[in-house]
Amino acid sequence: MSKQSLSTQPYKGTRDFFPEQMQVRDAIFSQLRASVESYGYQAYDGPMLEPFELYAAKSGDEIVSEQLYSFEDRGKRKVAMRPEMTPTLARMVASRSNQLARPIRWYSIPNLWRYERPQRGRLREHWQLNVDLLGLASVEAEVEIVQVAIDLLRGFGAGISDFEVQINHRQLMDAVFEQKLALSSEQVPLVARAIDKRAKIEPAAFEKLLVEAGCKAQQIEDLNAFLVSPLMELEADFGDNPGFKDLCRFFDHVNAIGLGPVCRFNSSILRGLDYYTGIVFEIYDKHPDNRRALFGGGRYDNLVGMFGGEQIPGVGFGMGDVTLADFLDTHGILPQVSPSIDVMVGLFDASLFDLSQQIARQLRQAGLRVSSVLVPMKLGKQFQNADKQGIPIMVMLGPDEAQQGQVTVKHLKSGEQETLAQTSLVPYLQNLLA
Ligand code: HAM
Repeated sequence: MSKQSLSTQPYKGTRDFFPEQMQVRDAIFSQLRASVESYGYQAYDGPMLEPFELYAAKSGDEIVSEQLYSFEDRGKRKVAMRPEMTPTLARMVASRSNQLARPIRWYSIPNLWRYERPQRGRLREHWQLNVDLLGLASVEAEVEIVQVAIDLLRGFGAGISDFEVQINHRQLMDAVFEQKLALSSEQVPLVARAIDKRAKIEPAAFEKLLVEAGCKAQQIEDLNAFLVSPLMELEADFGDNPGFKDLCRFFDHVNAIGLGPVCRFNSSILRGLDYYTGIVFEIYDKHPDNRRALFGGGRYDNLVGMFGGEQIPGVGFGMGDVTLADFLDTHGILPQVSPSIDVMVGLFDASLFDLSQQIARQLRQAGLRVSSVLVPMKLGKQFQNADKQGIPIMVMLGPDEAQQGQVTVKHLKSGEQETLAQTSLVPYLQNLLA
């Protein structure tokens, strides 16, 4: 029987993170954490598996019937690998609703699973920064959340004109669908899906989708007119609509704060998830090579209440690591990573193992990140290995140095080296690496 070897490829749509990629990922996540913590958000996490019903209740058909990884566990419970974090967040907040100081400002960077066709910006496993503010029903919460979203990109060095926040409101759209266009409840999701695709397709293809959704010529004309109207022109028809009022207040605030130029009303932004009840938004890259939605979010006022307790309103967003890395790469602002190991302590021969280990321990106690050679090998090979790992400095000692209480420090980039007393090694290296 022929033995077929196992593939070294990761499962389709997932990534291995080798040390050099892990360093970039860590640098990106550190920057994200620093940005959201500067607004007072606290980290939380939850389990990767949740009961299937948690998503079936609210996440929406696309995620549940097409993208969920779900299975029956050995105890015959139907479970799902989390495709998003918001239901877990809502469950956690509901479980402690009486004890939490309001508003609740929480963030997390979970890995999420969605059975999608892998393509640019879309994988089956991704990491998603979630930033959420719960306990406030007014647009001041959205004003903060959108500022956080903007400052996340600014924190990496993005310019204010590199991206745009496009904003809409579900209640305004409900009024358009139900009052202005008088769509039936079966037509609404079809028309919403067509609008969602509008930016990516030709006007004729958009019209075809509307016809397929059962729209008449007048409805199509009215919808097209609505979709190109600036917010202020909607006042005559929608002046009393709570969504219209929220949007006006939101824009008044962001204009006053100086973020008006980054924010734009776009009535084509709907977002796929069913639980949004108010403002919805997407952040778009404006670079011609990467014109696409980077991340998005919105208000969900009915999610926490589904656990039977208090109905706590919330607003937040999810930012995926894949689209973020594409954005940073396109704009040339991926974080620069520095070596993760400061020093390699070499080994001249087996008799000097213990002394070399003592020196390595001393350096670690002084706060340095130190790797060491454990079995003797040619010195050239030791230098090569250290250099391959990006380690800038090698510390060596042979029998003569050992006897005289000395040590040699070699700079691997320049090849220069210096011999000094072992007692001076810590301050010498600390100074060098500072
Ligand atoms: P979402 O729009 O489904 O929202 O995902 C948010 C972001 O996650 C997307 O804009 C994208 O950056 C990233 N993302 C989603 N799916 C994938 C994928 N298959 N591959 C790579 N990246 C992906 C939510 O998940 C909401 N729960 C966000 C939220 C938090 N709303 C309120 N709070």
